[in-house]
Amino acid sequence: MNTPQKRYTITAALPYTNGPIHIGHLAGVYVPADIYARFMRMQGHDVAFVCGSDEHGVPITIKAKKEGVSPQDIVDKYNGVIKKSFKEFGVSFDNYSRTSAPVHHKTASAFFKKMYDKGKFIEETTKQLFDAEAKQFLADRFVTGTCPKCGNEEAYGDQCESCGSSLNATDLINPKSTFTGATPTLKETRHWFLPLDQYEDWLKKWILEGHKHDWKSNVYGQVKSWIDDGLRARAVTRDLDWGIPVPVEGGEGKVLYVWFDAPIGYISSTKEWAEKEGKDWEPYWKDEDTKLVHFIGKDNIVFHCVIFPVMLKAHGDFILPENVPANEFLNLEGKKLSTSKNWAVWLHEYLEEFPNQQDVLRYVLTANAPEAKDNDFTWKDFQARNNNELVAIFGNFINRVVVLTNKYYGGSVPEPGDYSDIDKKTIAELKAYPAVIASSIEKYRFREAQGELMNLARLGNKYLADEEPWKLIKTDEDRIKTIMYIALQIASALATLSEPFLPFSSARLKKMLNFSDAENNLNKDEYSQWDKIATRNSLLPAEHQIGKAELLFTKIEDKQIEQQLEKLEATKTANAAENQKIEPQKDTASFEDFTKMDLRVGTILEAHKMPKTKKLMVIKVDTGLDKRTVVSGIAEHYKAEEIIGKKVTVLANLAPRKLRGIESEGMILMTENSAGKLVFVNPDEEGVEPGTTIN
Ligand code: 2FM
Ligand code: ZN
Repeated sequence: MNTPQKRYTITAALPYTNGPIHIGHLAGVYVPADIYARFMRMQGHDVAFVCGSDEHGVPITIKAKKEGVSPQDIVDKYNGVIKKSFKEFGVSFDNYSRTSAPVHHKTASAFFKKMYDKGKFIEETTKQLFDAEAKQFLADRFVTGTCPKCGNEEAYGDQCESCGSSLNATDLINPKSTFTGATPTLKETRHWFLPLDQYEDWLKKWILEGHKHDWKSNVYGQVKSWIDDGLRARAVTRDLDWGIPVPVEGGEGKVLYVWFDAPIGYISSTKEWAEKEGKDWEPYWKDEDTKLVHFIGKDNIVFHCVIFPVMLKAHGDFILPENVPANEFLNLEGKKLSTSKNWAVWLHEYLEEFPNQQDVLRYVLTANAPEAKDNDFTWKDFQARNNNELVAIFGNFINRVVVLTNKYYGGSVPEPGDYSDIDKKTIAELKAYPAVIASSIEKYRFREAQGELMNLARLGNKYLADEEPWKLIKTDEDRIKTIMYIALQIASALATLSEPFLPFSSARLKKMLNFSDAENNLNKDEYSQWDKIATRNSLLPAEHQIGKAELLFTKIEDKQIEQQLEKLEATKTANAAENQKIEPQKDTASFEDFTKMDLRVGTILEAHKMPKTKKLMVIKVDTGLDKRTVVSGIAEHYKAEEIIGKKVTVLANLAPRKLRGIESEGMILMTENSAGKLVFVNPDEEGVEPGTTIN
């Protein structure tokens, strides 16, 4: 508010181009980023809001293999779907690029080369996981295994999505190739590593001391725990053929790690935009006065708060992010969103099934934004928020004001008379809203900001309900003029203040009020239309002619919600059928192989959940041989007290391994029932079907 122009470079995570956009992406990244960018533009700031498709990386090659097409086919297809759906949804990117664009290949290559020339990498030959059958090194998503930090058995080679830890593939316990399911061997290969450990002190100063109070606590907390755990060098090149070739000697046949090139995509997208606009891109990335803000989901925190800043620092030419307001995750009807399990509300489908209702989804996702913790989207809540809030509060107020102004005055704003105490109080409250909403947006509290916008609509509704102009029309015409004049000022403030959140409705409302908020005629202390709400006595002067009433929001019927719930039910049924698929038999094991396994009956003596983990249970078992500790990933399926005394099958001679610092000496055999619950191996357990594997 009332601030001179600043420069903002606002980035939104580049979506992987292996699937369409769903509500989780929108709630976590794109809706808040768009609110922020629109708001900053409205304040008169110089904004570059950039994004683009993340077209390299293993998930894309995996998807291409699965579908029997080339990675290029996959990225072309999804880049088209994603770009179109963002546009229709009203995400106001200044530029949406692609990491396959020549400008990006050039920028990322030059970035790497400069770091290489400055001696910022460690070049090393190390043993990496290798799938001999597929003749492929296994990194990132080509390999899964147990996370050494939290015990999640489906961690990837670069990251565990359960605890957010960033991993090296060789950290995984029981690694398995996603190509063949085989246990990888180790093979030597040469790569370039970013020595993150050398930047620990700098990161501590910059983030832990410098951003303790202005970064969100979920972001700060995660970063602090990684730095406190100690950072290690990370490979920034890969043995792959899909990506940006490593531009230095010895780099033949290798490409840049996708997480090295993707964030540089923000710079390339800015360059592409500047070129189109005839601007200079450099101040947006090099001028210390520019505010660089990255909008991301929580799974991207390590890359944006540790790795990319270290790259920027090591390179030396660029500014660092001022803030990284990452969100937590959104669930759908109580379950984790999943692209592969089709458990999602897809943006392109929503746009078809709810035409012209972009703002309803924007509104609901902001009202339920997972800003501080994971949150849930339900269709019933979607309907209730639309019908009880947008329609009943915001829409109702606007409709009354526009209908009555047309009815009483042929649509011409009336001349007000003297103000009553209620009028003065209402105007004072109205004038406070721009600063209140701005302050919440500036702190990245978009839910709170939108809540205040609705409070302004509530203020308007209450004012009309208390003053009841419709009752006075026969007795006190002058009083009604004042009431309607004030109500019209509230309506015009709503038209402006709703723009960052509800851009389509804001435009419709401005049209209805015949209200242009072009940034002209600004006084000395006004930098925007936003400011005028507080500084001026009137935005819609007497005699201004407004248009006819149109419904701003429409009710969502039960039938529409039922259809959506049926669609999700169908997905559940399809997933259950998929889960029931029998895994093919593994390669033949010789009798000798079998006798190598020492299987014993054991009794569980003690059990407790491992602190700070979701899945791990520390169990003491009497194996008859000894009393030993086994760490098992069953804490989401059983309470400790439920399992004490149970007889179980133990693989006693499995090589011991450490999980979160506790040595696990063996494995308790489990299987999964048809409801997806892990159960102890007992074929008589309910829901354990023939063919389910024991592991
Ligand atoms: O998680 C993702 O979808 C990544 N494609 C985000 C990349 S953000 C950036 F660094 F490009
Ligand atoms: Zn983990």
